[in-house]
Amino acid sequence: MAWKIQYDHARTDPEGFWMEQARAIDWDRMPSKALHDLGGPVPEWYADGLVNGCHNAVDRHVEAGHGDRVAIIHDSPVTGSVTRITYAELRDRVARLAGALAARGVTKGDRVIVYMPMVPEALEAMLACARIGAIHSVVFGGFAAGELAVRIDDAKPKAILAASCGIEGQRVVPYKPLLDGAVDMAAHKPDFCVVLQRDAGRADMGPLDIDWDDFVRDAEPADCVPVEGNHPAYILYTSGTTGAPKGVVRPTGGHLVALDWSMTNIYDVAPGEVFWAASDVGWVVGHSYICYAPLIHGCTTVVFEGKPIGTPDASTFWRVMADHKVAVFFTAPTAFRAVKREDPEARLMEGHDLSALRTIFLAGERADADIIDWVARVTGKPVIDHWWQTETGSAIAANPVGLGALPVKIGSPAVPMPGYEIHVLDEAGHEVPPGTLGSVAICLPLPPGTLPGLWNAQDRFRKSYLDAFPGYYETGDAGMIDEDGYLWIMARTDDVINVAGHRLSTGAMEEVLASHPDIAECAVIGVADDLKGQVPLGFMCLTKGVSRPEEEVLSECVRLVRDRIGPVAAFKLGCVVDRLPKTRSGKILRATMGSIADGRDWKMPATIDDPAILDEIAAALARIGYPKG
Ligand code: COA
Ligand code: AMP
Repeated sequence: MAWKIQYDHARTDPEGFWMEQARAIDWDRMPSKALHDLGGPVPEWYADGLVNGCHNAVDRHVEAGHGDRVAIIHDSPVTGSVTRITYAELRDRVARLAGALAARGVTKGDRVIVYMPMVPEALEAMLACARIGAIHSVVFGGFAAGELAVRIDDAKPKAILAASCGIEGQRVVPYKPLLDGAVDMAAHKPDFCVVLQRDAGRADMGPLDIDWDDFVRDAEPADCVPVEGNHPAYILYTSGTTGAPKGVVRPTGGHLVALDWSMTNIYDVAPGEVFWAASDVGWVVGHSYICYAPLIHGCTTVVFEGKPIGTPDASTFWRVMADHKVAVFFTAPTAFRAVKREDPEARLMEGHDLSALRTIFLAGERADADIIDWVARVTGKPVIDHWWQTETGSAIAANPVGLGALPVKIGSPAVPMPGYEIHVLDEAGHEVPPGTLGSVAICLPLPPGTLPGLWNAQDRFRKSYLDAFPGYYETGDAGMIDEDGYLWIMARTDDVINVAGHRLSTGAMEEVLASHPDIAECAVIGVADDLKGQVPLGFMCLTKGVSRPEEEVLSECVRLVRDRIGPVAAFKLGCVVDRLPKTRSGKILRATMGSIADGRDWKMPATIDDPAILDEIAAALARIGYPKG
């Protein structure tokens, strides 16, 4: 089994294995060895090598004679346009943008925030930063000004690259007021903001702002600046247990090596073929598989500015796959659930030739058997689930099609990838027998490309990931390994929920609800949802003396979460309760409330302070129609 050979090689000889994989990348100076102990919380990969991410993603393909190959296809049903950019054009555009940034004083190690929708310029912004060694931090467009402000204050960017608007289905979302609001709110101010003016909604420009076209027009192209193998390529903020997002740091060298390895061995895609990840540049899938991996590997990447449904209908996915001869497609299960709901027999696939399509990959949330079966049935293609996190940047467990697909077990993301030694542990940190549920943990060191820490927060890094099980990285997921060594990911062990493949913190929502003057106490949980997998639901205890209608308080809370966190939080459900169920030590019993809301079996927690409160919770949930069905 080719997978087993590679997995065992990486385990028994990590130095040899990862130095061999590093040869797929162009280094300005080859690292002397793979793993370096630099005295940080975890060792780092390729630290004494010199490399440039943009060179590997763009220039080297032009230099190898592939300048005419299409690098990016921007397919935008929301603007009715399809644009193709070759590798040679991409190199010139990125070099000019990088030159313009450098001319304004952005240099190696400076941070640049990118707040843009799904346009090619978003990728160009990321690559331009990589070209000069600046560290980008892309913020998803569905986050509100407050969330952007938090990221500005943490990353302290020298510049922000933004667009005037995004287009959400039929709705134009002006980004500029959100950007202005965030810059006003943040204590840190960027030196300047570059704004891509879009015809769908032009922005008023302020004193800090420069028009994107003016910015690049006369810029001198910049060369690629070699950076150390462990130089941060980017910071990507992701949800943790508290309201403060975690700034996951991605090291340059390991990220290049791991992504290139994955294209051949997991996705089985060759240079020159078309790879499409239907996600957003604001998420890790967008970083790894819309921007970097397809380009590093010399593929054509599709930047899709649309939704699975409503742009204009549920045929869009099939149309894009056929029009661009997509060989490998990757999305979150929720996107297919949306298509299935609109077009259960996939009649809209008719007339779209999917013969170029070989494999469909799913990740971002648990893939239910129903949706895997449906996608496999209507497309006739293999559907591969794989499991990963923002922290790892690529798959921890997958069915590596390029190494010879293993038998599929529906509901399991299959087996660990090289460098990931996965164990399932009980609370005391002991390994549990096969088939038993526990915390999924990975032996240190993690392989190349994974996070060496959190931006400005190494203590939080240790506490969040390393302290619970010494010698392991704690994934925050619960699951099991079966007798055949297949992994099953079942749920989160923390207060993170997964809404339409988007990772969100219930703690962050609780902080917002608690700021409402009429709310004395609250708890937010995730409840099962047919389309989005999970959606948040809030329990609100009103301040003494307040007796307002439940709907009124809820609609104010919905607005508050939308304004503070953003529409992506999808917070729409809630109920007023007198009290919250707690343990005797005061811990809110969120998991038990979740089980009641979903209609799952549950046991009375031994440590509960007052069991009667659970009856009140069940009654409040029943008032709003939970459990469903
Ligand atoms: N900018 C501004 N607003 C955004 C946004 C963006 N980039 N992305 C989402 N939103 C808004 C949506 O318009 C929606 O607003 P609404 O409450 O006014 O309707 C809200 O945020 C929630 O968005 P979402 O959860 O995506 O729901 P949806 O109903 O718009 O779409 C799906 C549902 C399933 C079609 C959609 O979630 C989808 O395509 N998911 C694909 C999964 C994915 O990309 N996952 C990323 C990880 S792989
Ligand atoms: P993110 O960091 O946004 O990619 O979210 C990572 C989390 O999404 C994981 O920790 C899991 O909880 C969940 N997740 C991602 N992929 C899968 C999968 N294939 N199966 C089950 N859960 C998944």
